[in-house]
Amino acid sequence: MAAVGEGVGLTLLDETVIRSEVARLAAQISADYADKTLHLVGVLKGAAVFLADLLRALTIPATMDFISIVPYGQVTASGVVRIRKDLDEPLEGKDVLVVEGICASGLSLSYLLRNFQTRGPASIKTCAFLAKRRERPADVTLDYVGREIPDVFVVGYGLDAQEQYRNLPYIARLAGGR
Ligand code: IMP
Ligand code: MG
Repeated sequence: MAAVGEGVGLTLLDETVIRSEVARLAAQISADYADKTLHLVGVLKGAAVFLADLLRALTIPATMDFISIVPYGQVTASGVVRIRKDLDEPLEGKDVLVVEGICASGLSLSYLLRNFQTRGPASIKTCAFLAKRRERPADVTLDYVGREIPDVFVVGYGLDAQEQYRNLPYIARLAGGR
């Protein structure tokens, strides 16, 4: 039988570190939105595992929704993407937190922020569990970040390589990966 972590390289963040980063983020977010109800919008599929943990660690009322986007071929320099599955709920009047598993080029987030702004939210902020250390579009601000990591390909904790490894409870480099 194949082991869950087969083909995976060096561990970057183990379960203990992940748990403490989620707790830190949840405490910060709960304090910042103390008198509000927070609407979490997860970017599928990478954010699903992190969002589930974050949601349960929040001490404020929260709701959630998900969106799935697909790049047109490669993500182009213009950041043109297509919505594969749109949000179920309107954003009108809501305090929105866009949740990503990992932010790399920031093009996905740039597109989503522009799109969500047109839907009339009361406020909109961003949270990425991981942020790669690289340049991003000027309109992309990461308000909450778990960990900054080098610009290498990682898997686990919801992040995949060709749909594999999302169920790893830790984050690791791909063996032989960039
Ligand atoms: P961005 O638009 O370049 O910021 O890319 C964000 C998306 O690319 C993420 O939501 C992931 O789906 C994917 N991605 C970027 N880097 C990685 C990685 O190292 N491992 C797994 N997925 C990644
Ligand atoms: Mg992927």
